[in-house]
Amino acid sequence: MSMDTATINDVRWTYSEQGSGPALVLLHGFPLDHRVWAGQVAGLCDQYRVIAPDFPGFGQSQHPGGGNVSSFTMKSLAADLHDFLDHLRALPCVLGGLSMGGYVALAFSREYPADLAGLILADTRAQGDTAEGRDGREKMAAIARKDGNRPIVEMMLPRMTAPDASRDSVQVVKHLREIMRDCPAETIALACEAMSQRDDQSTALASIPVPTLILVGEEDQITPPALAEFMQTQIPRATLAVIPSAGHMAPLEQPDSVTQALLAFLPQCCTP
Ligand code: MLT
Repeated sequence: MSMDTATINDVRWTYSEQGSGPALVLLHGFPLDHRVWAGQVAGLCDQYRVIAPDFPGFGQSQHPGGGNVSSFTMKSLAADLHDFLDHLRALPCVLGGLSMGGYVALAFSREYPADLAGLILADTRAQGDTAEGRDGREKMAAIARKDGNRPIVEMMLPRMTAPDASRDSVQVVKHLREIMRDCPAETIALACEAMSQRDDQSTALASIPVPTLILVGEEDQITPPALAEFMQTQIPRATLAVIPSAGHMAPLEQPDSVTQALLAFLPQCCTP
């Protein structure tokens, strides 16, 4: 995937952009980058302008600010994303987020509903962290700062995908490990802190004005289908797609099924 760059609020963003037509923006999860959406970019770019950025500090994007990281929150990422998409003249867009990308997409939908044509929430949740979850984040941030990203990658990997020993699944885990190992330890620590402080968006779901696709891997162990069903009951114009033989990384594990679900949903938001 060829990459472009844009400097937004003094931080260099790297992103892939392919195709033309209505803008579809796909946000990665943690501790990942734009590569998790590669299958959907390839499958949709003949009808849509598909933009998949790396958030600041992730992938090839620049770290958010030499020492000045006071504004690394889900809300600040949504505001920076808005500036980035405005810079690319890609608003309004259909905004999709995988897991942590979904937290940012929900923050974005709250602040900038008029700039959304549709929303895609993939393997994510509306609730904030529990006290236990916040403790876990704190421990994870401390481990990343002390021992680097490798222990975090190995701790997280077993729960990221559906339990499956097939050859395809072994390849997916290998690729996922490579992506996760490219995430700098300091970004892991900052993102843990930012996610632990995020707002609970449960009561805001009822105000989402746009068609929304909720996608979840049938075997997602991190954000299980019950969390997706809850969002479906709360969001007025929601459709739920449960992806068989997928866990928390449905777009990577079952790229064709996820692309088909997106293709079926997108005409509700815009005309290709
Ligand atoms: C992700 O995939 O982005 C993470 O699992 C999100 C989280 O840890 O809450």
